[in-house]
Amino acid sequence: MNRPERVPVPNNLESFWMPFTANRQFKKDPRLFVKAEGMHYWTSDGRKVLDGTAGLWCCNVGHSRPKVVEAVQRQIAELDYAPAFQMGHPKAFELAARLVNYLPSPLDHVFFTNSGSESVETALKIAIAYQRARGKGTKTRLIGRERGYHGVNFGGISVGGIPNNRKFFGSLLTGVDHIRHTHDLSRNAFTRGEPEYGAEYAEDLERVIALHDASTIAAVIVEPVAGSTGVLIPPKGYLKRLREICDKHDILLIFDEVITGFGRLGTPFAVEYFDVVPDMVTCAKGITSGVIPMGGVFVTKDIYDTFMTGPEHMIELFHGYTYSAHPVACAAALGTLDTYEDEGLLTRGAELAPYWETALHTLKGLPHVIDVRNIGLIGAIELESIPGEPTKRAFTAFLEAYEKGVLIRTTGDIIALSPPLIISKDEIDEIVATLAMVLKNLA
Ligand SMILES: Cc1ncc(COP(=O)(O)O)c(C=O)c1O
Repeated sequence: MNRPERVPVPNNLESFWMPFTANRQFKKDPRLFVKAEGMHYWTSDGRKVLDGTAGLWCCNVGHSRPKVVEAVQRQIAELDYAPAFQMGHPKAFELAARLVNYLPSPLDHVFFTNSGSESVETALKIAIAYQRARGKGTKTRLIGRERGYHGVNFGGISVGGIPNNRKFFGSLLTGVDHIRHTHDLSRNAFTRGEPEYGAEYAEDLERVIALHDASTIAAVIVEPVAGSTGVLIPPKGYLKRLREICDKHDILLIFDEVITGFGRLGTPFAVEYFDVVPDMVTCAKGITSGVIPMGGVFVTKDIYDTFMTGPEHMIELFHGYTYSAHPVACAAALGTLDTYEDEGLLTRGAELAPYWETALHTLKGLPHVIDVRNIGLIGAIELESIPGEPTKRAFTAFLEAYEKGVLIRTTGDIIALSPPLIISKDEIDEIVATLAMVLKNLA
Protein backbone atom coordinates (compact mmCIF):
# COMPACT_ATOMS: atom_id res chain seq x y z
CA MET A 1 0.00 0.00 0.00
CA ASN A 2 1.08 3.58 -0.54
CA ARG A 3 2.62 5.52 2.26
CA PRO A 4 0.48 8.65 2.80
CA GLU A 5 1.97 12.02 2.09
CA ARG A 6 2.79 14.25 5.00
CA VAL A 7 -0.47 15.73 6.24
CA PRO A 8 -0.20 19.26 7.61
CA VAL A 9 -0.62 19.59 11.37
CA PRO A 10 -3.40 22.11 12.14
CA ASN A 11 -2.14 25.52 13.25
CA ASN A 12 -4.30 25.66 16.32
CA LEU A 13 -4.19 22.70 18.66
CA GLU A 14 -5.42 24.74 21.59
CA SER A 15 -9.22 24.35 21.57
CA PHE A 16 -9.37 20.58 21.97
CA TRP A 17 -8.98 19.60 25.66
CA MET A 18 -7.64 16.09 25.19
CA PRO A 19 -8.79 13.25 27.47
CA PHE A 20 -6.30 11.41 29.73
CA THR A 21 -3.49 13.29 27.96
CA ALA A 22 -0.61 15.53 29.03
CA ASN A 23 -2.10 18.37 26.94
CA ARG A 24 0.82 20.82 27.16
CA GLN A 25 3.43 18.18 26.34
CA PHE A 26 1.32 16.87 23.45
CA LYS A 27 0.62 20.27 21.91
CA LYS A 28 4.32 21.14 21.90
CA ASP A 29 5.15 17.97 19.97
CA PRO A 30 1.91 16.48 18.60
CA ARG A 31 1.47 12.85 17.62
CA LEU A 32 -1.28 12.62 15.01
CA PHE A 33 -2.51 9.53 13.21
CA VAL A 34 -4.03 10.14 9.80
CA LYS A 35 -4.60 6.64 8.47
CA ALA A 36 -4.85 3.06 9.67
CA GLU A 37 -4.93 -0.33 8.00
CA GLY A 38 -4.50 -3.84 9.36
CA MET A 39 -1.81 -3.78 12.06
CA HIS A 40 -0.59 -0.26 11.32
CA TYR A 41 -1.17 3.43 11.78
CA TRP A 42 0.37 6.20 9.69
CA THR A 43 1.38 9.47 11.28
CA SER A 44 0.90 12.98 9.89
CA ASP A 45 4.63 13.07 9.10
CA GLY A 46 4.25 9.97 6.95
CA ARG A 47 5.67 7.33 9.32
CA LYS A 48 4.22 3.81 9.69
CA VAL A 49 3.59 2.72 13.29
CA LEU A 50 2.91 -0.86 14.36
CA ASP A 51 -0.12 -0.99 16.67
CA GLY A 52 0.92 -2.79 19.85
CA THR A 53 -2.22 -1.80 21.74
CA ALA A 54 -5.17 -2.30 19.36
CA GLY A 55 -5.81 1.43 19.64
CA LEU A 56 -6.99 1.54 23.24
CA TRP A 57 -7.47 -2.22 23.72
CA CYS A 58 -10.33 -2.08 21.21
CA CYS A 59 -9.35 -2.61 17.55
CA ASN A 60 -9.27 -6.38 17.95
CA VAL A 61 -9.83 -7.26 14.26
CA GLY A 62 -7.20 -4.73 13.16
CA HIS A 63 -7.87 -1.48 11.34
CA SER A 64 -10.16 -0.61 8.43
CA ARG A 65 -11.23 -4.21 7.89
CA PRO A 66 -13.49 -4.54 4.82
CA LYS A 67 -16.50 -6.29 6.41
CA VAL A 68 -16.76 -3.65 9.11
CA VAL A 69 -16.20 -0.71 6.79
CA GLU A 70 -18.78 -1.98 4.27
CA ALA A 71 -21.36 -2.76 6.97
CA VAL A 72 -21.07 0.76 8.39
CA GLN A 73 -21.22 2.43 4.97
CA ARG A 74 -24.29 0.40 3.96
CA GLN A 75 -26.08 1.03 7.24
CA ILE A 76 -25.71 4.81 7.22
CA ALA A 77 -27.23 4.96 3.76
CA GLU A 78 -30.09 2.56 4.67
CA LEU A 79 -31.21 3.48 8.21
CA ASP A 80 -29.19 6.20 9.90
CA TYR A 81 -31.02 6.19 13.22
CA ALA A 82 -34.05 4.66 14.89
CA PRO A 83 -35.43 5.82 18.26
CA ALA A 84 -34.00 3.63 20.99
CA PHE A 85 -37.04 3.83 23.28
CA GLN A 86 -40.35 2.10 22.42
CA MET A 87 -39.05 1.43 18.87
CA GLY A 88 -36.54 -0.99 17.44
CA HIS A 89 -34.73 -2.06 14.29
CA PRO A 90 -33.87 -5.59 13.12
CA LYS A 91 -30.10 -5.44 13.52
CA ALA A 92 -30.33 -4.74 17.28
CA PHE A 93 -32.17 -8.04 17.80
CA GLU A 94 -29.94 -9.93 15.38
CA LEU A 95 -26.85 -8.66 17.18
CA ALA A 96 -28.18 -9.48 20.67
CA ALA A 97 -29.13 -13.00 19.58
CA ARG A 98 -25.66 -13.57 18.13
CA LEU A 99 -23.78 -12.06 21.05
CA VAL A 100 -25.36 -14.19 23.75
CA ASN A 101 -23.93 -17.26 21.99
CA TYR A 102 -20.46 -16.18 23.13
CA LEU A 103 -21.41 -16.51 26.78
CA PRO A 104 -22.53 -19.53 28.74
CA SER A 105 -26.12 -19.94 29.84
CA PRO A 106 -27.76 -18.35 31.82
CA LEU A 107 -26.15 -15.08 30.57
CA ASP A 108 -28.68 -14.78 27.79
CA HIS A 109 -29.86 -11.16 27.62
CA VAL A 110 -27.93 -8.03 26.69
CA PHE A 111 -28.61 -4.32 27.35
CA PHE A 112 -26.83 -2.00 24.89
CA THR A 113 -24.81 1.10 25.83
CA ASN A 114 -22.26 3.29 24.03
CA SER A 115 -19.07 2.77 26.04
CA GLY A 116 -17.43 0.79 28.79
CA SER A 117 -18.20 3.51 31.31
CA GLU A 118 -21.88 3.39 30.43
CA SER A 119 -21.86 -0.40 30.61
CA VAL A 120 -20.51 -0.18 34.15
CA GLU A 121 -23.12 2.39 35.25
CA THR A 122 -25.81 0.23 33.68
CA ALA A 123 -24.63 -2.93 35.46
CA LEU A 124 -24.43 -1.17 38.85
CA LYS A 125 -27.91 0.31 38.45
CA ILE A 126 -29.37 -3.03 37.33
CA ALA A 127 -27.77 -4.70 40.37
CA ILE A 128 -29.42 -2.34 42.84
CA ALA A 129 -32.76 -2.31 41.01
CA TYR A 130 -32.71 -6.13 40.78
CA GLN A 131 -32.25 -6.54 44.52
CA ARG A 132 -35.18 -4.19 45.11
CA ALA A 133 -37.34 -5.93 42.49
CA ARG A 134 -36.91 -9.25 44.27
CA GLY A 135 -37.79 -7.79 47.65
CA LYS A 136 -34.25 -7.27 48.93
CA GLY A 137 -34.22 -3.48 48.86
CA THR A 138 -31.66 -3.15 51.66
CA LYS A 139 -29.01 -4.66 49.39
CA THR A 140 -27.68 -1.44 47.82
CA ARG A 141 -23.97 -1.42 48.63
CA LEU A 142 -21.44 -1.89 45.80
CA ILE A 143 -18.04 -3.49 46.31
CA GLY A 144 -15.13 -2.81 43.96
CA ARG A 145 -11.41 -3.53 44.24
CA GLU A 146 -8.30 -1.44 44.77
CA ARG A 147 -6.61 -0.61 41.47
CA GLY A 148 -9.79 -1.50 39.56
CA TYR A 149 -10.73 0.57 36.50
CA HIS A 150 -14.39 0.76 35.59
CA GLY A 151 -14.49 3.84 33.41
CA VAL A 152 -14.84 7.45 34.38
CA ASN A 153 -18.46 8.06 35.39
CA PHE A 154 -19.42 8.49 39.03
CA GLY A 155 -20.43 4.88 39.64
CA GLY A 156 -17.35 3.59 37.88
CA ILE A 157 -14.86 5.79 39.71
CA SER A 158 -16.61 5.05 43.01
CA VAL A 159 -16.16 1.28 42.68
CA GLY A 160 -12.86 1.85 40.88
CA GLY A 161 -9.61 1.87 42.79
CA ILE A 162 -7.20 4.16 40.94
CA PRO A 163 -6.41 7.10 43.24
CA ASN A 164 -5.91 9.76 40.53
CA ASN A 165 -9.23 8.86 38.92
CA ARG A 166 -11.01 9.43 42.26
CA LYS A 167 -9.30 12.03 44.37
CA PHE A 168 -10.19 15.12 42.32
CA PHE A 169 -13.90 14.39 42.18
CA GLY A 170 -15.35 14.87 45.62
CA SER A 171 -17.14 12.34 47.75
CA LEU A 172 -18.20 10.01 44.91
CA LEU A 173 -21.05 7.53 45.49
CA THR A 174 -21.88 6.64 49.05
CA GLY A 175 -22.31 3.02 50.07
CA VAL A 176 -19.24 1.69 48.30
CA ASP A 177 -16.30 -0.30 49.64
CA HIS A 178 -13.27 -2.06 48.16
CA ILE A 179 -11.44 -5.32 48.55
CA ARG A 180 -7.68 -5.35 48.24
CA HIS A 181 -5.89 -5.80 44.94
CA THR A 182 -3.94 -8.92 44.06
CA HIS A 183 -0.64 -7.47 42.87
CA ASP A 184 2.22 -9.15 44.71
CA LEU A 185 5.60 -8.85 43.03
CA SER A 186 7.39 -10.23 46.10
CA ARG A 187 5.93 -13.67 45.31
CA ASN A 188 4.82 -13.49 41.69
CA ALA A 189 7.36 -11.42 39.70
CA PHE A 190 8.08 -12.75 36.19
CA THR A 191 5.20 -15.22 36.33
CA ARG A 192 4.09 -16.61 32.99
CA GLY A 193 0.28 -16.64 32.88
CA GLU A 194 -1.76 -16.84 36.07
CA PRO A 195 0.26 -16.22 39.25
CA GLU A 196 0.71 -19.15 41.60
CA TYR A 197 0.24 -17.18 44.81
CA GLY A 198 -2.60 -15.02 46.06
CA ALA A 199 -5.91 -16.92 45.77
CA GLU A 200 -6.29 -16.06 49.46
CA TYR A 201 -6.72 -12.36 48.58
CA ALA A 202 -10.30 -13.32 47.70
CA GLU A 203 -10.89 -13.86 51.41
CA ASP A 204 -10.71 -10.08 51.78
CA LEU A 205 -14.27 -10.09 50.48
CA GLU A 206 -15.32 -12.00 53.61
CA ARG A 207 -13.77 -9.20 55.70
CA VAL A 208 -15.75 -6.52 53.86
CA ILE A 209 -18.97 -8.54 54.06
CA ALA A 210 -18.47 -9.07 57.79
CA LEU A 211 -18.06 -5.30 58.21
CA HIS A 212 -21.17 -4.25 56.28
CA ASP A 213 -23.31 -7.41 56.47
CA ALA A 214 -24.45 -9.21 53.33
CA SER A 215 -27.97 -7.78 53.77
CA THR A 216 -26.59 -4.38 52.66
CA ILE A 217 -24.57 -5.53 49.64
CA ALA A 218 -25.98 -5.67 46.10
CA ALA A 219 -22.94 -6.61 44.04
CA VAL A 220 -19.21 -7.06 43.69
CA ILE A 221 -17.56 -5.79 40.50
CA VAL A 222 -14.08 -6.78 39.29
CA GLU A 223 -12.17 -6.94 36.05
CA PRO A 224 -11.20 -10.61 35.55
CA VAL A 225 -7.80 -9.28 34.41
CA ALA A 226 -7.29 -5.69 35.55
CA GLY A 227 -6.10 -3.82 32.46
CA SER A 228 -5.87 -0.06 32.81
CA THR A 229 -4.08 -0.16 36.16
CA GLY A 230 -1.23 -1.97 34.43
CA VAL A 231 -2.29 -5.58 33.82
CA LEU A 232 -2.91 -7.45 37.05
CA ILE A 233 -3.56 -11.11 36.34
CA PRO A 234 -5.70 -12.96 38.87
CA PRO A 235 -3.89 -15.58 40.95
CA LYS A 236 -4.90 -19.17 40.26
CA GLY A 237 -8.23 -19.95 41.93
CA TYR A 238 -8.91 -16.34 42.96
CA LEU A 239 -11.93 -15.67 40.74
CA LYS A 240 -13.54 -19.03 41.58
CA ARG A 241 -13.23 -18.16 45.25
CA LEU A 242 -14.87 -14.75 44.70
CA ARG A 243 -17.76 -16.55 43.00
CA GLU A 244 -18.14 -18.96 45.95
CA ILE A 245 -18.17 -16.15 48.49
CA CYS A 246 -20.75 -14.16 46.48
CA ASP A 247 -22.94 -17.27 46.22
CA LYS A 248 -22.64 -17.97 49.92
CA HIS A 249 -23.86 -14.45 50.78
CA ASP A 250 -26.41 -13.98 47.97
CA ILE A 251 -24.42 -11.16 46.34
CA LEU A 252 -24.26 -10.54 42.59
CA LEU A 253 -20.88 -10.88 40.88
CA ILE A 254 -20.17 -8.57 37.93
CA PHE A 255 -17.22 -9.14 35.59
CA ASP A 256 -16.13 -5.99 33.82
CA GLU A 257 -14.95 -7.48 30.53
CA VAL A 258 -14.50 -4.23 28.62
CA ILE A 259 -10.92 -5.29 27.88
CA THR A 260 -11.05 -9.08 28.25
CA GLY A 261 -14.17 -9.52 26.10
CA PHE A 262 -13.91 -10.51 22.43
CA GLY A 263 -10.91 -12.75 22.24
CA ARG A 264 -8.26 -10.91 24.24
CA LEU A 265 -7.44 -14.02 26.31
CA GLY A 266 -7.90 -16.51 23.47
CA THR A 267 -11.50 -17.25 24.44
CA PRO A 268 -14.54 -15.16 23.47
CA PHE A 269 -14.81 -13.88 27.07
CA ALA A 270 -12.76 -14.31 30.24
CA VAL A 271 -15.77 -16.12 31.71
CA GLU A 272 -14.75 -19.11 29.62
CA TYR A 273 -11.01 -18.72 30.21
CA PHE A 274 -11.39 -18.82 34.00
CA ASP A 275 -14.46 -21.07 33.98
CA VAL A 276 -16.32 -18.76 36.35
CA VAL A 277 -19.83 -17.56 35.49
CA PRO A 278 -20.78 -14.19 36.99
CA ASP A 279 -24.29 -12.72 37.11
CA MET A 280 -23.47 -9.85 34.76
CA VAL A 281 -20.74 -9.16 32.20
CA THR A 282 -19.98 -5.69 30.88
CA CYS A 283 -18.39 -5.19 27.48
CA ALA A 284 -17.52 -2.45 24.96
CA LYS A 285 -14.39 -1.84 22.83
CA GLY A 286 -14.02 -5.13 20.91
CA ILE A 287 -17.77 -5.38 20.31
CA THR A 288 -17.29 -3.11 17.25
CA SER A 289 -13.50 -3.38 17.20
CA GLY A 290 -13.50 0.27 18.24
CA VAL A 291 -15.00 1.49 14.97
CA ILE A 292 -18.27 2.93 16.33
CA PRO A 293 -18.81 3.53 20.07
CA MET A 294 -20.82 0.71 21.60
CA GLY A 295 -21.04 -1.34 24.79
CA GLY A 296 -23.30 -3.85 26.43
CA VAL A 297 -24.23 -5.59 29.66
CA PHE A 298 -25.03 -9.29 29.63
CA VAL A 299 -27.36 -10.42 32.41
CA THR A 300 -28.71 -13.76 33.50
CA LYS A 301 -32.17 -15.00 32.67
CA ASP A 302 -33.07 -14.66 36.35
CA ILE A 303 -32.14 -10.97 36.40
CA TYR A 304 -34.06 -10.24 33.20
CA ASP A 305 -37.11 -12.23 34.30
CA THR A 306 -37.19 -10.51 37.70
CA PHE A 307 -37.90 -7.22 35.92
CA MET A 308 -40.51 -8.68 33.55
CA THR A 309 -43.45 -8.34 35.90
CA GLY A 310 -46.24 -5.80 36.38
CA PRO A 311 -48.62 -4.44 33.72
CA GLU A 312 -47.36 -5.16 30.22
CA HIS A 313 -47.67 -1.56 29.05
CA MET A 314 -45.26 -0.37 31.77
CA ILE A 315 -41.55 0.23 31.19
CA GLU A 316 -39.69 -2.35 33.29
CA LEU A 317 -36.32 -0.59 33.67
CA PHE A 318 -36.09 3.21 33.71
CA HIS A 319 -32.71 3.34 32.08
CA GLY A 320 -31.29 3.65 28.57
CA TYR A 321 -29.43 5.92 26.17
CA THR A 322 -30.52 7.79 23.04
CA TYR A 323 -27.89 5.79 21.21
CA SER A 324 -28.47 2.36 22.82
CA ALA A 325 -28.28 -0.16 19.95
CA HIS A 326 -27.63 2.60 17.41
CA PRO A 327 -28.16 1.08 13.95
CA VAL A 328 -24.68 2.06 12.71
CA ALA A 329 -23.06 0.62 15.83
CA CYS A 330 -25.07 -2.60 15.42
CA ALA A 331 -23.94 -2.86 11.80
CA ALA A 332 -20.33 -2.30 12.85
CA ALA A 333 -20.70 -4.98 15.53
CA LEU A 334 -22.22 -7.48 13.07
CA GLY A 335 -19.38 -6.80 10.61
CA THR A 336 -16.91 -7.27 13.46
CA LEU A 337 -18.50 -10.57 14.56
CA ASP A 338 -18.38 -11.78 10.94
CA THR A 339 -14.68 -10.95 10.85
CA TYR A 340 -14.01 -12.65 14.21
CA GLU A 341 -15.81 -15.77 13.04
CA ASP A 342 -14.45 -15.95 9.48
CA GLU A 343 -10.87 -15.59 10.71
CA GLY A 344 -11.17 -17.53 13.99
CA LEU A 345 -9.96 -14.47 15.88
CA LEU A 346 -11.79 -15.09 19.15
CA THR A 347 -9.59 -18.10 19.79
CA ARG A 348 -6.49 -17.02 17.86
CA GLY A 349 -5.03 -15.52 21.03
CA ALA A 350 -4.79 -19.02 22.50
CA GLU A 351 -2.68 -20.21 19.55
CA LEU A 352 -0.37 -17.20 19.71
CA ALA A 353 -0.14 -16.93 23.51
CA PRO A 354 2.86 -19.28 23.96
CA TYR A 355 4.87 -17.41 21.30
CA TRP A 356 3.82 -14.05 22.77
CA GLU A 357 4.79 -15.20 26.27
CA THR A 358 8.25 -16.46 25.24
CA ALA A 359 8.97 -13.31 23.26
CA LEU A 360 7.93 -10.95 26.08
CA HIS A 361 9.91 -12.75 28.73
CA THR A 362 13.14 -12.19 26.79
CA LEU A 363 12.89 -8.63 28.19
CA LYS A 364 13.64 -9.94 31.68
CA GLY A 365 17.04 -8.70 32.81
CA LEU A 366 16.99 -5.44 30.83
CA PRO A 367 17.63 -2.25 32.82
CA HIS A 368 14.85 -1.18 35.24
CA VAL A 369 12.60 -4.16 34.40
CA ILE A 370 11.11 -5.45 37.67
CA ASP A 371 8.41 -7.65 36.18
CA VAL A 372 7.16 -9.13 32.93
CA ARG A 373 3.69 -10.68 32.96
CA ASN A 374 1.32 -12.00 30.32
CA ILE A 375 -1.96 -13.74 29.68
CA GLY A 376 -3.63 -14.41 26.32
CA LEU A 377 -2.58 -11.55 24.06
CA ILE A 378 -1.96 -9.15 26.93
CA GLY A 379 1.48 -8.29 28.21
CA ALA A 380 3.00 -5.92 30.74
CA ILE A 381 6.51 -4.81 31.56
CA GLU A 382 6.78 -3.11 34.93
CA LEU A 383 9.67 -0.68 35.34
CA GLU A 384 11.25 0.59 38.50
CA SER A 385 10.16 4.24 38.91
CA ILE A 386 12.68 7.06 38.87
CA PRO A 387 12.81 8.16 42.52
CA GLY A 388 10.55 11.18 42.98
CA GLU A 389 9.37 11.09 39.35
CA PRO A 390 6.78 8.34 39.01
CA THR A 391 5.48 7.64 35.48
CA LYS A 392 8.38 9.47 33.79
CA ARG A 393 10.44 6.42 32.89
CA ALA A 394 7.57 4.57 31.23
CA PHE A 395 6.32 7.71 29.49
CA THR A 396 9.80 8.22 28.03
CA ALA A 397 9.71 4.61 26.83
CA PHE A 398 6.35 5.31 25.18
CA LEU A 399 7.75 8.33 23.31
CA GLU A 400 10.89 6.45 22.27
CA ALA A 401 8.93 3.42 21.04
CA TYR A 402 6.64 5.71 19.06
CA GLU A 403 9.66 7.36 17.43
CA LYS A 404 10.92 3.88 16.54
CA GLY A 405 7.56 2.92 14.97
CA VAL A 406 5.72 0.95 17.66
CA LEU A 407 2.67 2.09 19.61
CA ILE A 408 2.68 0.94 23.23
CA ARG A 409 0.65 2.17 26.20
CA THR A 410 1.84 3.10 29.64
CA THR A 411 0.15 3.54 32.97
CA GLY A 412 2.22 4.57 35.94
CA ASP A 413 5.58 2.94 35.20
CA ILE A 414 4.03 -0.09 33.54
CA ILE A 415 4.11 -0.72 29.80
CA ALA A 416 0.94 -2.50 28.67
CA LEU A 417 0.61 -4.37 25.38
CA SER A 418 -2.55 -5.68 23.73
CA PRO A 419 -2.10 -5.93 19.96
CA PRO A 420 -4.89 -6.60 17.46
CA LEU A 421 -5.73 -10.31 17.36
CA ILE A 422 -4.50 -10.50 13.73
CA ILE A 423 -0.86 -9.90 14.74
CA SER A 424 1.78 -12.12 13.09
CA LYS A 425 4.77 -13.73 14.82
CA ASP A 426 7.08 -11.38 12.91
CA GLU A 427 5.15 -8.42 14.25
CA ILE A 428 5.39 -9.79 17.79
CA ASP A 429 9.16 -9.98 17.26
CA GLU A 430 9.17 -6.41 15.99
CA ILE A 431 7.36 -5.11 19.09
CA VAL A 432 9.70 -6.97 21.43
CA ALA A 433 12.89 -6.00 19.53
CA THR A 434 11.85 -2.34 19.54
CA LEU A 435 11.06 -2.47 23.25
CA ALA A 436 14.41 -4.13 23.97
CA MET A 437 16.17 -1.33 22.10
CA VAL A 438 14.19 1.31 23.98
CA LEU A 439 14.72 -0.28 27.39
CA LYS A 440 18.47 -0.69 26.87
CA ASN A 441 18.83 3.05 26.32
CA LEU A 442 16.40 4.25 28.97
CA ALA A 443 17.78 6.48 31.71
C1 LIG B 1 -12.41 -2.67 32.52
C2 LIG B 1 -12.87 -1.37 31.93
N1 LIG B 1 -14.06 -0.89 32.24
C3 LIG B 1 -14.53 0.25 31.71
C4 LIG B 1 -13.77 0.98 30.83
C5 LIG B 1 -14.28 2.27 30.27
O1 LIG B 1 -14.56 2.19 28.93
P1 LIG B 1 -14.83 3.51 28.08
O2 LIG B 1 -13.53 4.25 27.99
O3 LIG B 1 -15.33 2.96 26.77
O4 LIG B 1 -15.88 4.29 28.79
C6 LIG B 1 -12.51 0.51 30.47
C7 LIG B 1 -11.66 1.27 29.52
O5 LIG B 1 -10.50 0.99 29.34
C8 LIG B 1 -12.03 -0.69 31.04
O6 LIG B 1 -10.82 -1.16 30.76
